[in-house]
Amino acid sequence: MTPIIRTVSDLRALARAWKSKGETIGVVPTMGALHDGHLSLARRARSECDRVITTIFVNPKQFNNPDDLKKYPRSEEADARLLATVPVDAIFAPPVEEVYPEGFISTVTLAGVAQPLEGHMRPGHFDGVATVVTKLFGMSLADRAYFGQKDWQQLQVVLRLVRDLNVPVEVVGCETIREADGLAMSSRNVQLTTRGRTKAPVLYAAITRAAEDIRSGHADRMAIREAAETMRAAGFDRVEYIELRDAETLMPSDDPTRPRRMLAAAWIDGVRLIDNIPV
Ligand code: PAJ
Repeated sequence: MTPIIRTVSDLRALARAWKSKGETIGVVPTMGALHDGHLSLARRARSECDRVITTIFVNPKQFNNPDDLKKYPRSEEADARLLATVPVDAIFAPPVEEVYPEGFISTVTLAGVAQPLEGHMRPGHFDGVATVVTKLFGMSLADRAYFGQKDWQQLQVVLRLVRDLNVPVEVVGCETIREADGLAMSSRNVQLTTRGRTKAPVLYAAITRAAEDIRSGHADRMAIREAAETMRAAGFDRVEYIELRDAETLMPSDDPTRPRRMLAAAWIDGVRLIDNIPV
């Protein structure tokens, strides 16, 4: 079975031993409740690094809603079994006090890319992500870190912070893994009702259609409005946003010569889903 490490000093000792042999380290930060999306990151790390650490930590600082934190699925034993199939060299699953001990007062805050969309809907969320990711990089001595495009804005935030703060980690963005019907895999999908699960793929279908329409010359606004209507008609309770943005800055973009991304967030039966695709 894969060793499960609980303290920063044990993780550092392991990482130092690997480094002293000249081995490269890949880290895959997660909050657990692992699925094939997470495992695809671990497999990619496995193929590119000598050593792979997967971290499992439900980071309280990135939850702006206490109920969401409480409801977040946790399944460490099942996660460890899945990671053994990759396999990874170590699992780092620290308790909250190890990551945020008494007296902890530092926060990594980003402007710009961290502000719109998820940053706007979930105040403080990206500060929490940026802070824990910076800490995990420092704890693991990783050379490379693997993130999913599923959380596109998060990926851009991490790329920006690594550049801004000269963090010596290469950030690798990996493709979104989907269910056969197109629904992006997510730890939150287990919270969907049977009805919600049937309707959820409409999110991806609707933004895919809108992106195709835009590429074939339809007006951005119209295509987006149609996507929102399709989702509401399918039974989504609320479409929080569907936006066409500059893929890197996440600012509004009507410049088709720059890479653009369509990003969406919507609620179905009390579960919030996000997804994004290139345009
Ligand atoms: P979590 O939601 O557990 O996701 C961990 C990593 O898996 C993230 O990089 C996410 O983008 C990636 N991922 C999730 N679903 C995916 C899918 N369907 N296809 C590909 N990759 C997928 O994101 C977080 O945790 C946290 O914010 C974290 C970065 C760990 C900081 O706490």
